[in-house]
Amino acid sequence: MTEIPRNAAALPQTPSDGGNRPSPEDPHAPARRAVQDVVDGFDDHRRRFREVTRRAPARHADRDWHGMQADALERLEVYESAVNRAVTALGRSLGDHLRCHACWIGMKTAYGGLVADRPDPELARTFFNSATRRVFATVGIDPQIEFGEPAPASGEPADPPPYTTRPHGGSTAALIRDVLATHPIGAPYRSLDGDARRIAERIDDYRGSAWGDQPIDAVDVLDAVFYRNKGAYLVGRIRGGRRLMPLVIALVNEADGIAADAVLLTVDEASIVFSFTRSAFHADIDVPARVVRFLKSIMPAKRVAELYLALGYDKHGKAELYRDLIAHLERSADAFEVAPGDRGLVMVVFTLPSYDVVFKVIRDAFGYPKITSREHVMGRYELVFKHDRAGRLVDTQEWKHLAIPRHRVSDGLLAELLGAASQSVALDGDRVVLKHVYTERRVTPLNLHLRTAAEAAGCDAVRDFGVAIKDLTATNIFPGDMLLKNFGVTRHGRVVFYDYDEICLLTECNFREMPEPRTEEEAMSAEPWFYVGPHDIFPSELGTFMGLYGPLREVFIAAHGDLLHPEFWHRMQERHAAGEVIDIFPYRPERRLRARAP
Ligand SMILES: Nc1ncnc2c1ncn2[C@@H]1O[C@H](COP(=O)(O)OP(=O)(O)OP(=O)(O)O)[C@@H](O)[C@H]1O
Ligand SMILES: [Mg+2]
Repeated sequence: MTEIPRNAAALPQTPSDGGNRPSPEDPHAPARRAVQDVVDGFDDHRRRFREVTRRAPARHADRDWHGMQADALERLEVYESAVNRAVTALGRSLGDHLRCHACWIGMKTAYGGLVADRPDPELARTFFNSATRRVFATVGIDPQIEFGEPAPASGEPADPPPYTTRPHGGSTAALIRDVLATHPIGAPYRSLDGDARRIAERIDDYRGSAWGDQPIDAVDVLDAVFYRNKGAYLVGRIRGGRRLMPLVIALVNEADGIAADAVLLTVDEASIVFSFTRSAFHADIDVPARVVRFLKSIMPAKRVAELYLALGYDKHGKAELYRDLIAHLERSADAFEVAPGDRGLVMVVFTLPSYDVVFKVIRDAFGYPKITSREHVMGRYELVFKHDRAGRLVDTQEWKHLAIPRHRVSDGLLAELLGAASQSVALDGDRVVLKHVYTERRVTPLNLHLRTAAEAAGCDAVRDFGVAIKDLTATNIFPGDMLLKNFGVTRHGRVVFYDYDEICLLTECNFREMPEPRTEEEAMSAEPWFYVGPHDIFPSELGTFMGLYGPLREVFIAAHGDLLHPEFWHRMQERHAAGEVIDIFPYRPERRLRARAP
């Protein structure tokens, strides 16, 4: 093995003096080959990612929803396998120098140069970081061998934008007809003119109420179509003077062709479609940074990280979140503390009051009545990562070796972390190292929300709590632990679930009728007098297991009494067993453009 120079930053970057075939006298060749390994790994990842993404139009046209689900799963695994292959190749190229820090400093510079002109340099840099972190198991980040700084803007200003602008020359209906007709979904529209007219009516009405006299100047619509589950979305913005409104057109493929199902025109409604509780879109994009910038223009409150996540760039979304967190720590002074709400038996959950993210570490031991293991809990979080999140499961990011400044951690929290979660947390000088942690968006725990909400808001939340459970059942998820404290309310007032350690597939559960006691003794027994299997669930007891009492319980039962009977659950199980992919729409029924076919 050739010795690699300490000043590897001087690595020659042209292959003319040796290329991939090192001569014994070429000391730079292994490191240069190693750089190429990472470039190849990234290329391989992008190619596979796009190859899977590009199947979406045909899946949608064929109504192949199982195929779409399989693609979503396949795409989630593309990144890890590309990093694995790159690291294996690096081992071959670098041999004993795999962990040579100086080599990696040079490789970073060389790699940065090689990917600078790509349309996706920010993703490429994150990929390099993944490879370094895998090799070094870096705690915190090591800026010498990782790209920490924000990626340079990708795409030349002269490059064509990722959207098409159409001036509002004549009627809104003609404009929308053009938008629909120029976004081929793979199957013909059932009624292009009718859809365009209905969408245009909604737009013109809403413009009148929101903008008054201001007319529409133009519409910009992203060229890429956004596919997810059974939906396809056209995403754009409507401009008039200095005003701007989102334009999201939801399309569905019912058996007789494509139809526009809904049009969404507010920031909140667009944000709910792009929510952190939904799985990623499949949208084939050349320059991700430009699409993210466009999406940010219509949803300014969304973090850049969340927009990358919504496009399926999980690791880069995480990298953006890390940068956002570090930048936030620099401009804030508050301390991490235990998250408001009931303490978990499985997790220690903490937060920075000024930052709407929670950090969850697994406890070393679990309080009664939890019978679980660290591996099982991690497996449940992974299940959620890979499963359709239905608009009701909070997305989590998993981190290894995340370091936060000691002086920003309250003493009480530090004592709790070191005492109860020593397998996940360690103190290292002035840093608290989170060896393993999940982060997720902070929401208001439903139990706290109901304590303070006005009556009407409380009733709304309780009704949406039932809808959340039903949406989860529609994707074959049984939450397991249904207590109010395990659900939360988003800033859009939606009820979501975040406690995953008891989650399971609906089709694995055994929903039972409560047996009638046969004797006085059985009736009075505190313990069940009948056999209860590990997967047995008694829907009639769910009301009690939720912890809902008084008038709110009445409201819940009035709206969702069916949840308390086994028939509801059996019917959902049958639908899943029959292979049905059940609709869940990320918008309210009143946003639909027409009555849905039964
Ligand atoms: N995303 C979140 N936003 C706000 N608070 C949260 C979030 N996740 C968890 N919490 C808070 O932390 C507490 C414990 O979290 P979680 O329920 O996930 O842990 P757990 O140990 O699995 O709980 P349990 O003992 O119910 O199984 C919650 O009751 C809630 O108060
Ligand atoms: Mg909990």
